[in-house]
Parts: sequence; C-alpha cells; structure tokens
Amino acid sequence: MDTIVSGMRPTGRLHLGHYFGALTNWLKLQEQYRCYFFVADWHALTTDYATPQGINQNTIEMVMDWLSVGLDPNKAVVFRQSRVKEHAELHLLYSMIVPVPWLERNPTYKDQIKELVGKDLSTYGFLGYPVLQAADITIYKANKVPVGVDQAPHVELTREIVRRFNQVYAPIFPEPEVLLTEAQRLPGLDGRKMSKSYGNSVMLSDTPKEIDQKLSKMVTDPARVRRTDPGEPEKCPAFQFHKIYSTQDEIAEVSQGCRTAGIGCLDCKKIMIKHVVAQLAPISAKRAALAERPKDVEDILAAGNRLAQEKARETMTEVREALGL
Ligand code: TRP
Ligand code: SF4
Repeated sequence: MDTIVSGMRPTGRLHLGHYFGALTNWLKLQEQYRCYFFVADWHALTTDYATPQGINQNTIEMVMDWLSVGLDPNKAVVFRQSRVKEHAELHLLYSMIVPVPWLERNPTYKDQIKELVGKDLSTYGFLGYPVLQAADITIYKANKVPVGVDQAPHVELTREIVRRFNQVYAPIFPEPEVLLTEAQRLPGLDGRKMSKSYGNSVMLSDTPKEIDQKLSKMVTDPARVRRTDPGEPEKCPAFQFHKIYSTQDEIAEVSQGCRTAGIGCLDCKKIMIKHVVAQLAPISAKRAALAERPKDVEDILAAGNRLAQEKARETMTEVREALGL
C-alpha cells in the first residue's frame, strides 16, 4: 500500500477554500492509502518567527476542523510536526547535501519573497523551508504527496534531495510523486480568492446564521445595480457557489432568472445558501462538540504523534546506519 504524507501550517480556523482545496481530497485519500497528515508548526516559524504565541491555539483549532469534516484518526495518522523531533534530525542531515542554489532558484521561494513584503524572510530557516518539507515527506517513505500547484516545486526538490541522498549514502528513500490537487475554485465574499488575510471567508465553524449573513452580503455581478437590471452569472462570484452546490435545475433556473432580471440577487443566493448551510451545519455542530472537549483533541494528537514517531525512528535508524553515525 502506498504511503501519503501531507501537512498544513497552523493558520487557525479553516474556511471553505481549505475544504475544497485540500480537505475533501484528504478525506478520499484516507480511505485508500496509509496516510500521515500533520500540523506543520515548525514551518509556521519560517515566516513568523517573531510571533510563536498563536501556534498552540492555532494547531488545536485547525485539528478540530480536520476532525469535524471527517478526518479519521483511526484511518490516518494525524499528528504535529514539532512533536516528532526526528524530522529535525533528518532536516539537518539533508542540509549537508543540499546545494544552496537549489534553494535560491525555487520558484515558490522567489514568489513568496515578492508577495510577503514587510516580513523578514532573510533567514536561514526560510531558505531551508523545502529541506524541512523534504524531511517531513521522506521520513515516512512517502510515495505520494497531495499538494496544490504552489507546493509542487517543493516536492520536485524533495525528489532531487532523495536522488542525491540515495546516491551518496544508501538507497533508502523512494522518490515521492506529486499528487496535484485539482481544487474546485471558490471565491471569497468580495470576489477575490478566499483567504484568511482578506477577511472574506466562510469558516467551517460558522453557524447557519453566520453563513446566511455572510453569503447574503456576498458581491454579485456589478451590472445588477437595480433589481430590474439583467446580469451575467459568469460575472458573479455568488454564482460560483451555485456551480458547486446547486442542482442542475436550480443552476438553469437562476441563470435564466439572472439574465432576464426575473430573479433578485437575494432570492438567487438563498438557493445556494440553503445547500451551504446543509453541508456545514453538521460540521459546525461536530466542531462545537469538540470544542467542549479540547482534551480529547489533545489525546488524538498525542496518539498520532506516537504512531508517527515509531515510523520516523525506524527510518532514522536506517539513515544513521547509512552514514555510519
Ligand atoms: N509547505 C506546505 C504548505 O505550506 C505545508 C507542508 C509542510 C507540507 N510539510 C509538508 C505539505 C510535507 C506536504 C508535505 O502548504
Ligand atoms: Fe449573481 Fe444570482 Fe444576482 Fe445573477 S441573480 S448576479 S447569479 S446573485
């Protein structure tokens, strides 16, 4: 059976973008593979080393979201990176064999430096971000890594590191493949990409009332200034929700209503809101129950940490042997 490894940085509560971008995929994978899903809390420090205070809370919040959407600790190993110190040891050993230019020409590295202006990214840790990621992946001898397209260069680099390690020392690691996640794109409430930093998100933990309030105010085709102005669904961010959530009949009905000004935007949105609420109500209910029992969440992580560490220790024994350490 193939092994899958994937991680997420602890950003706190997750939104629908995370759900369609990664989590639905994880839910499928946990049924078919040996999966390791973890909180990449050390990676959070690479861009935010000066503010570590939120990491514990954000870790718990994110794991609660994972569990409430159906990630199952009996199927996948769910754990926290910083609790399996072997990742750090392997990262250190990799850092000896990784040429710095491999890191400097990484497109994701260059993009982030351009995008995250105002952050101090001049550190050794940030440059070495993908080396740590390579350790995360290979310590479980992963064959497949489900990630979004922005993370593909990191997996590519992991393959290069594996080839080099296997050649210099001993053939211990499989070369992991990227499993590119085909995310269904959902815009945020303002029409831009759904993102925590834009404050335009529907959170998985939102109550039905909050979902209704948020989506009722979502932007629509700007051509529909008055109720009598016709619109074009493809120019409307709210219509993207219809495409994911509504039935074929409903989509046909609102498209026609939009183009003929036969339906008002609020009535149109109500149709998809009903579906979003139906999907998220059980999730936010489960989440509320978990939030009452934070100790259970900690126990689940502790058990996952132990399982992960067992495998990581095995690998590191082989690695030390290969180096004669
Ligand atoms: N870099 C990933 C991200 O920001 C998170 C991550 C860390 C990861 N280690 C990983 C993903 C290993 C896949 C495999 O999304
Ligand atoms: Fe968007 Fe519906 Fe309004 Fe058309 S009627 S602009 S699809 S919300």
